[in-house]
Amino acid sequence: MTLPAPLILLVHGPNLNLLGERNPAVYGTTTLVDIEADVAGAANARGATVLAFQSNHEGALIDFLHQHRKIAAGVVINAGAYTHTSVALRDAIEAVQLPVVEVHLSNTHAREAFRHVSLIAPVCLGQVTGLGRAGYGVAVQLLLDHVATRDGAAAR
Ligand code: DQA
Repeated sequence: MTLPAPLILLVHGPNLNLLGERNPAVYGTTTLVDIEADVAGAANARGATVLAFQSNHEGALIDFLHQHRKIAAGVVINAGAYTHTSVALRDAIEAVQLPVVEVHLSNTHAREAFRHVSLIAPVCLGQVTGLGRAGYGVAVQLLLDHVATRDGAAAR
């Protein structure tokens, strides 16, 4: 029996659609298209597929997680500023019961104090912060390792 390819949800929060032109001194010149290609490449190389979604709206991000919760193996999310403000997104991550890896391009801990707190971190598997574009690849590997370990243990 062949198992279906695990599906990773790649979720981008507010203002990340402007990557490439937004504050390049902090975020570099990488675009969302570049990041999505990186993530798809890393996932495909391990037999997984990716569904990407970006929104500037809190409720749309939450709806996306809800809608795909039964078919996804896990989530890589850069929640942008909602990381620091959204109890609703934090509750959605907890509610969907999927492994979630939080990513930030910049090192949020080296920036303004309000960026030091992540409301979603306690309900995520882990956080990759400050590694720029490469952080997404790291997040995919961590997520797929986690899924493989969990599914392997469940099969034994
Ligand atoms: C960010 C960091 C957040 O503080 C900020 O609001 C963003 C981008 C990052 O990727 O470094 O929008 O998530």
